[in-house]
Amino acid sequence: MRLLTLLVLVLHAVQMETQEKVSAYAGENVTLASGAKNGQSLVRIEWSVYGNTTWIATLHNGFVNTDRHDQFQKRLALNTRSGDLTIYHLTSKDAMTYTVEIIDSNGEDNRKKIELEVKQRLQVPTIEKIDISATQEGCFIALNCSSSEKDVNFSWQVSPPSMASWSTKNGSSYIFVLTNSKQGLLFTCNSTKGDKSAHQDFSAGCDVFTEELSHLRNRFIIPFYIGIVLGILITSVLIFCCKIVICNWRGRQNLKREAAVSSP
Ligand SMILES: *[C@@H]1O[C@H](CO)[C@@H](O)[C@H](O)[C@H]1NC(C)=O
Ligand SMILES: *[C@@H]1O[C@H](CO)[C@@H](O)[C@H](O)[C@H]1NC(C)=O
Ligand SMILES: *[C@@H]1O[C@H](CO)[C@@H](O)[C@H](O)[C@H]1NC(C)=O
Ligand SMILES: *[C@@H]1O[C@H](CO)[C@@H](O)[C@H](O)[C@H]1NC(C)=O
Ligand SMILES: *[C@@H]1O[C@H](CO)[C@@H](O)[C@H](O)[C@H]1NC(C)=O
Ligand SMILES: *[C@@H]1O[C@H](CO)[C@@H](O)[C@H](O)[C@H]1NC(C)=O
Repeated sequence: MRLLTLLVLVLHAVQMETQEKVSAYAGENVTLASGAKNGQSLVRIEWSVYGNTTWIATLHNGFVNTDRHDQFQKRLALNTRSGDLTIYHLTSKDAMTYTVEIIDSNGEDNRKKIELEVKQRLQVPTIEKIDISATQEGCFIALNCSSSEKDVNFSWQVSPPSMASWSTKNGSSYIFVLTNSKQGLLFTCNSTKGDKSAHQDFSAGCDVFTEELSHLRNRFIIPFYIGIVLGILITSVLIFCCKIVICNWRGRQNLKREAAVSSP
């Protein structure tokens, strides 16, 4: 009879203890749910790790303590209403099994285990401009996409869809586009590694080129006008001077001629 009671108790305990799996990305935040029912008033909350009683966050006698463990200093928040635990700025060390035990005002006791998986995001690839130039055939754009991760596969998307050719060489992917689109194009480089993927956007178009041109024009247009005005001024002055010189010379010639005529 005793054995049966024990068995029932053990079975009961096993039933009460549920285990779930949660996964999140390194550097991000995750909230682990205590499993408390809505409206359940919690008087005691204990979050622990290592499967033993290494508490990391607790609610005891109305006091919250979330700085119980070095690894989690200043990275935990305990919601006393729901019993949920938020871990900020996840690191790969946080990947372990968490145990939560909650006791409500009716004395009901619940335990739950949560296995946390910390995934690493794929590094976002980098897009670099190789060349953007306006040609007679249209706007020519050449870009380069690379990743700090080894052995990634690249793919490109261009919007609006355009005639593009791309190839991947030695860990970099090159794309070439010739377009007549006036608004420019949006390029997306997608890097994948296994089941992970990351992408980077890049806007490019020849409006950059016309901007450069107008920039150049602004830089040269004022000197150009100053040049013209100066030119006109100098020419006028020169003409004026010439006229004086020529008049003087003519005057002198006339004087000479008059002198020659008046002398016998
Ligand atoms: C994580 O939480 C912090 C603090 O609340 C917040 O500033 C940050 O944006 C969160 N990060 C993510 C990825 O949600
Ligand atoms: C109990 O927790 C401590 C950390 O406080 C840890 O070093 C130890 O390995 C844990 N014991 C078990 C059985 O997991
Ligand atoms: C493309 O990017 C990679 C990595 O930044 C760089 O080593 C390479 O020189 C670039 N190629 C060109 C043509 O810019
Ligand atoms: C490929 O890249 C590696 C390192 O980035 C470099 O040592 C090697 O010379 C490159 N090979 C070619 C064919 O460019
Ligand atoms: C990147 O490529 C992967 C695999 O082809 C795909 O599942 C994912 O949706 C792509 N992401 C973007 C932003 O295009
Ligand atoms: C890259 O693509 C090739 C062919 O689709 C595939 O065999 C290979 O596993 C991919 N590599 C990675 C790192 O995803």
